[in-house]
Amino acid sequence: MKFFIDTADLDEIQEAHDLGVLDGVTTNPSLCAKIGVADFEGHIAKICNIVEGDVSAEVVSTEYDEIMTEARHLAKIADNVVVKVPLIKDGIKAIRSLSDEGIRTNCTLCFSPTQALLAAKAGATYISPFIGRLDDISDDGMQLIEDIVTIYDNYGFETEILAASIRHPMHVLESARLGADVATMPLKVIDQLLHHPKTDSGLERFLADWDKLQEKLKETAE
Ligand code: E4P
Repeated sequence: MKFFIDTADLDEIQEAHDLGVLDGVTTNPSLCAKIGVADFEGHIAKICNIVEGDVSAEVVSTEYDEIMTEARHLAKIADNVVVKVPLIKDGIKAIRSLSDEGIRTNCTLCFSPTQALLAAKAGATYISPFIGRLDDISDDGMQLIEDIVTIYDNYGFETEILAASIRHPMHVLESARLGADVATMPLKVIDQLLHHPKTDSGLERFLADWDKLQEKLKETAE
């Protein structure tokens, strides 16, 4: 399973990258607005310099011609840019054309298995089912992942399933169990994956026992 970080914050991206487990980055207009990105293309270029893996940069156009222009522009920023396109009619049309042009895409805002089927047929590189936002409205985000895995397996689609809108480690665990190709998550969730109270108390005990041993050895030597 690949791990992407879901942020536009360069410090957070650097921190996750330094951990050595980062395979890519997803951004969106809200994440850029959160940190006040002024020069979007320059910012994506900076992210692409930190991370070797795929970096999703989202279009803000909603009509075919404009999406195509914007996507071609974004794709030129760096080889690892993947153009994020919303799952709307003009978006699906654009994904088909971009795929034919060899421009890689991440089809975003997917909330149903049939939407995911359309994105795969259009040739999307990634599909982003938003599991947390479904859970937020008492729907079942994990069921969506399971359905997409089944459908893509049934027909051998190569579109990668990128579990998005991840809120906590259980979303990551369940996505991994179901076979999602990628999980994109905030830095906070990457940290949460790492920590376990028994690891902390176990390490504390090991180090205390080691110190005691050193004390004893020192006393014996004196
Ligand atoms: C995915 O690429 C999106 O940027 C993201 O996962 C959305 O998450 P949210 O529902 O926490 O905003």
